[in-house]
Amino acid sequence: MSTTLRLAIFASGNGSNFHNIAQEILLKKLDAEVVLCVTNHAEAGVLAKAKNYNIPTCVLDPTTFPNENEYTDVLLAALNQSEADFIVLAGYLRKIPTAIIQAFPQRILNIHPSLLPAFGGKGMYGERVHQAVIEHGVRWTGVTVHLVDEKYDNGAIVLQEPVPVRSDDTTHTLAARVLKMEHRIFPEAIQLFAENKIRVEGRHVIIEGKLPRGRNR
Ligand code: GRF
Repeated sequence: MSTTLRLAIFASGNGSNFHNIAQEILLKKLDAEVVLCVTNHAEAGVLAKAKNYNIPTCVLDPTTFPNENEYTDVLLAALNQSEADFIVLAGYLRKIPTAIIQAFPQRILNIHPSLLPAFGGKGMYGERVHQAVIEHGVRWTGVTVHLVDEKYDNGAIVLQEPVPVRSDDTTHTLAARVLKMEHRIFPEAIQLFAENKIRVEGRHVIIEGKLPRGRNR
């Protein structure tokens, strides 16, 4: 039985994952509706994309609030008003306050452009991840979609897919290859929640039935 998820998508940057998720919804591959776009950055590219889809936006920069409680109250109010029931972090560079994590138990997903726990943690985002991957000389990197807990890039892993690193890769060519995989597996991971196929046992995410398009466990 599938339920239509009411997604709040948080993004700090360009928003290609945001755009991709909105497209998958239009194509009816994803049983969801985007009810809110949250960003911490008034110049973020994602804002124009949200406006194109007529999706309400909310710009909240936590550093402009006197303390985390006040920021959390405003963010929770925006989420409640939108009636969001699921949060998707699509390139969101701010930590999610504990109260939000508690208000959405096992209902917040993040995407990270490496095979966690490698090349993750505080300060590992964007080009820095791909730079570290290239410097380390690993042959494979990848994409991880995981639940969000109070530590950076730490929550239980939902889907993970490898992406090859080529000897002549620059951060730019590698990022492009990884992003392509992000656009494949993020909507698939979200759809698993829409179809109620996810059960969490501690660090382990149990997926009922077959994975979409032959994904690896
Ligand atoms: C992606 O690489 C994602 O993995 C990371 O931030 C980037 C966001 O890209 N968390 P975009 O804004 O969706 O294009």
